[in-house]
Amino acid sequence: MAKSPFSRALRTVVAAGATAMITLLPAPAAAQAGPGPLPSPGRLSADLGVPTVDRLAADLGLPGAPAPASAPRRPDCGVERCVALTFDDGPERATTMPLLDTLERKNARASFFVIGRKIAGNEDVLRRMTRLGMDVENHTWDHPDLRRLPADAVTAQIRRTTDAITRTTGVAPRYVRPPYGSWTPGVTPTAGLEPALWEVDTRDWESLDTARVVRAALAGARPGAVILMHDVHPSTVAAVPAIIDGLRERGLTPVSLRDLRGVAPRPAAAPGPAPLPGVPSPEALSAEMRAAATPPRLPEVDLPGVLLPTGSA
Ligand code: NI
Repeated sequence: MAKSPFSRALRTVVAAGATAMITLLPAPAAAQAGPGPLPSPGRLSADLGVPTVDRLAADLGLPGAPAPASAPRRPDCGVERCVALTFDDGPERATTMPLLDTLERKNARASFFVIGRKIAGNEDVLRRMTRLGMDVENHTWDHPDLRRLPADAVTAQIRRTTDAITRTTGVAPRYVRPPYGSWTPGVTPTAGLEPALWEVDTRDWESLDTARVVRAALAGARPGAVILMHDVHPSTVAAVPAIIDGLRERGLTPVSLRDLRGVAPRPAAAPGPAPLPGVPSPEALSAEMRAAATPPRLPEVDLPGVLLPTGSA
């Protein structure tokens, strides 16, 4: 039976592959001299001009892909004067993507408090956040007033969103921001996350005015402050370049909330042995211990034990 053109092509490809494999085998002289150290997969990959699995995963934005070298470095907020940029209510492709362009261009990091039900169809937006070194956090499934819900419904709102974020990005959220800042400490469930409010409310949803958003953000910015904005308004997205520049002119470093609270594991300073899976690095452990010793900051409240809504977070 005659071979089809397809099977001839297949044989050619297999033969080419076999030739490539043979060229990887040590030359006879090298074999006589002893096995010698094996090249690392990364080295082998570089020699062959083939991207590593990690590199491919990062390029494709797959969950769990490592942050590329282009991601902003994690600052040391024990030394630098840090201000956290936080954006709520996305992802919204039309506005969130241009904002990510700005953050990438400015080499700045921020935290995104996303609404769970908006993730479907925007998975690539979330993966781009993670790839650029942004932190993706929890803003509930569909933005209810949590103080009006029974405890089990609150837990379901947070858990469902945590699962969607983790499934999409490969990184679990650490913080939950209650919609409208509506939260009763010690009563409202957190489903294992830390509550995250803010110090500076730009009220960007109200003014929808770029110049006002810039002024509000810079007027309230001081070391340790968390700035609240919403990545669903073009007027806010347009304000971010001037906010980042203005903070830096004031000697402040725009960071994510994890950076600010010192809970982000820092990359090792020098190349060392690969970390064992599931074993935290000494840096991560010390950051965790510092975080445990520092209670989360909460804004002042008008009623004892109750945080009142102060914006459209
Ligand atoms: Ni909100």
